[in-house]
Amino acid sequence: MKRTPVAILDALPAETRPLVERVIGEAERRGLAVYVVGGPVRDFLLRRPLRDVDLLVEPRGEEAAAELARAAAPPDAKVVVHERFGTVRIEQDGTALDLATARAEGYARPGALPQVRAGTLDDDLRRRDFTVNALAAPLSAAALRGRPAVIDPGTGLADLEAGVLRVFHPRSFHDDPTRALRAARLAPRLGFRLARSSGTALHAALRDGAFGAVSGERFRAELAKLFADARLGLDPAVALRWLADGHVLGALEPGLALPAEARAPLRRLGRALAEPPWEEPALRPLAAGLMVWLADVEPALRRRALRRLAVQGAAATGVERFQVERDQVLDGLAAQHGRGACDALLGPLSADARLALFASADPSARRRVQRWAREDRAVALPVAGEDLLAVGLRGPAVGAALAQLRVFWLDRAVRDRDELLALAVELHARTAPARRPRRRHR
Ligand code: CTP
Repeated sequence: MKRTPVAILDALPAETRPLVERVIGEAERRGLAVYVVGGPVRDFLLRRPLRDVDLLVEPRGEEAAAELARAAAPPDAKVVVHERFGTVRIEQDGTALDLATARAEGYARPGALPQVRAGTLDDDLRRRDFTVNALAAPLSAAALRGRPAVIDPGTGLADLEAGVLRVFHPRSFHDDPTRALRAARLAPRLGFRLARSSGTALHAALRDGAFGAVSGERFRAELAKLFADARLGLDPAVALRWLADGHVLGALEPGLALPAEARAPLRRLGRALAEPPWEEPALRPLAAGLMVWLADVEPALRRRALRRLAVQGAAATGVERFQVERDQVLDGLAAQHGRGACDALLGPLSADARLALFASADPSARRRVQRWAREDRAVALPVAGEDLLAVGLRGPAVGAALAQLRVFWLDRAVRDRDELLALAVELHARTAPARRPRRRHR
């Protein structure tokens, strides 16, 4: 299992490696100890691909990471310092590298954000969620001095071998209940199980009401990561089932569960997030995930859950509306077979609702949604509003006619612009007499 620090450098994402090497070079000049810590060390030892790289600097004063980052950053890079957390990010050409000053932390009260102060590498590793995340690999000479190739203050290496997720101490979930959500996404992603003693620690935190002390924003942020991890192969249905069976969902909001009918759509949503069936740059995995998960939850409970998770504004409205939207669009697709009808049903949906709908649909509706997104969505009608004004249409009739013409166009019922304009004239003639009888009536 033991692999060398040189090998971990080789395993870094190619775009991050030059930045890491600059930081190591600068650390050597200053005689500073730099380590790669957490997820990347765990993934390296598991022979999984490395994603985000977190580096840790042993402090010589509070500003160790910021000073090192500023000195190491290439001239065209941006250095963003978060003083409160002692962290700093180097950004260059869409690549980011996070550096932190080693910290020790305490909790003012359970569930609160930790209060941090400068500390040693050991302090920093011991404050982490799971033993397998509390590993470090030394990168600079000062870090390597007298240290093993992998630093493991807990039982991380043994737990990696055994496939076990284990918290450091029995009050870990009391201190930070969001760790339950982290376990729910990490355990299935890695194929690990929660250690029995950690399960007992979780039950104790639930029994003691620790989850009530945590802000909705923090739970929402972890749920967002849970849905985003579908891109790494996590099935959101498995993670939510884990939380439901462990009574964590009910602790977030009484009565909250995972409806059985949401499981297959959530699994499909996960696969669609991992391998998008069409281009959708504006997609938000959390919003789409909440839509699918909460569609068949009773509306009052859905509203309470959204409030508890601090989901507000347009995002909350989108989730609340989705059940009705989904049923209307799926019924519409079943009743109408043309490509124009499909466009009229799918066009008004948000990017999130469209993917959530795709995940909730049967295979034939899924094929139609996919074909629409790939082929029909971007089709431009060869007539515009001013063409319709020129043939006499006015006001809201213009928009309505454009929508109708688009249906004919996508159904291939008209061949060119001239036929569309002729049709517009016909539509105008059909709507115009409808107004006359009303006038006569007066
Ligand atoms: N961490 C923690 N408790 C939290 C959040 C994070 O102990 N509530 C620790 C974890 O040990 C993690 C490290 O901080 O390894 C970095 O956190 P983060 O960047 O959020 O890691 P993720 O990207 O969530 O982890 P992964 O790569 O495992 O998905």
